[in-house]
Amino acid sequence: MTPAPLPGDRELAPAKINLALHLRRRRDDGYHDLETVFAFTAFGDTLTAAPADELTLALIGPLAAAVGPGDNLVLRAARVLADAAGRPATVALTLDKHIPVAAGLGGGSADAAAALRLLDRVWGLGWPRDRLAAIAADLGADVPACVYSATMAGSGRGEVLRPIAAGVAGLPVLLVNPRVAVSTGPVFAVWDRIDRGALDPANWREARNDLAAPATVLAPVIGEVLGVLAATGATLVRMSGSGATCFALYADVGERDAADLAIAGRGWWSAATTLL
Ligand code: C5P
Repeated sequence: MTPAPLPGDRELAPAKINLALHLRRRRDDGYHDLETVFAFTAFGDTLTAAPADELTLALIGPLAAAVGPGDNLVLRAARVLADAAGRPATVALTLDKHIPVAAGLGGGSADAAAALRLLDRVWGLGWPRDRLAAIAADLGADVPACVYSATMAGSGRGEVLRPIAAGVAGLPVLLVNPRVAVSTGPVFAVWDRIDRGALDPANWREARNDLAAPATVLAPVIGEVLGVLAATGATLVRMSGSGATCFALYADVGERDAADLAIAGRGWWSAATTLL
């Protein structure tokens, strides 16, 4: 049996949800200006590091097979950090994959951000989060937010961040994905380009996810997920990111777990967790 890694060699990659997401404008660079409130869950992937002479990544866990071949964002994050720190990217990483892929939960972004935090520690860099977030933006629009993994108001592509007190810590949440992978780019492309107004981060409960309608065009089952969750006594039901994962917030864990039980048998993926 392999010995349990030291706590310092292990990092949680919390799943990201967008409590709300307003689209404002398509930009000339193909990206979209948006306004969002990021939140993170106790549920996520785990990244482990061990000393090595080269950079490697092993995938384990229930969703390891769902991670496509090619250059994983974790490896890119390791190389970007090593370059910025002027040192070789030598480490053996193991990613325990639980967050569904192409699901609106920022799985790849969370993994990349966890790699930055973990390697900052094991390589003895001691960089502040702001410095890690600054090099994270090139890895993806959601990666800076995932570096902090704290409730944040985001704007620009999602990389302009401001901490907010959303008052959600410990809130029970149920994540539900109908096992339909939805790629982010195509969902943005289906948006009707109608600006439906700014997001006031303090009023995220009354806000929207403007990507829900375009995502539902590509994956109509999202409408069914939202409808089923709305009938479970949740205080709020909304799609996260570009979908297809939807989240439901509950007043207590009993209601959340009852809802999880009630939707079992549909073949959907779910995770009952709490917000950080
Ligand atoms: O930055 P990331 O690689 O996560 O984004 C994936 C895709 O999502 C982009 O290529 C783009 O098509 C779309 N996107 C966007 N506007 C944003 C964020 C993402 O159009 N603010």
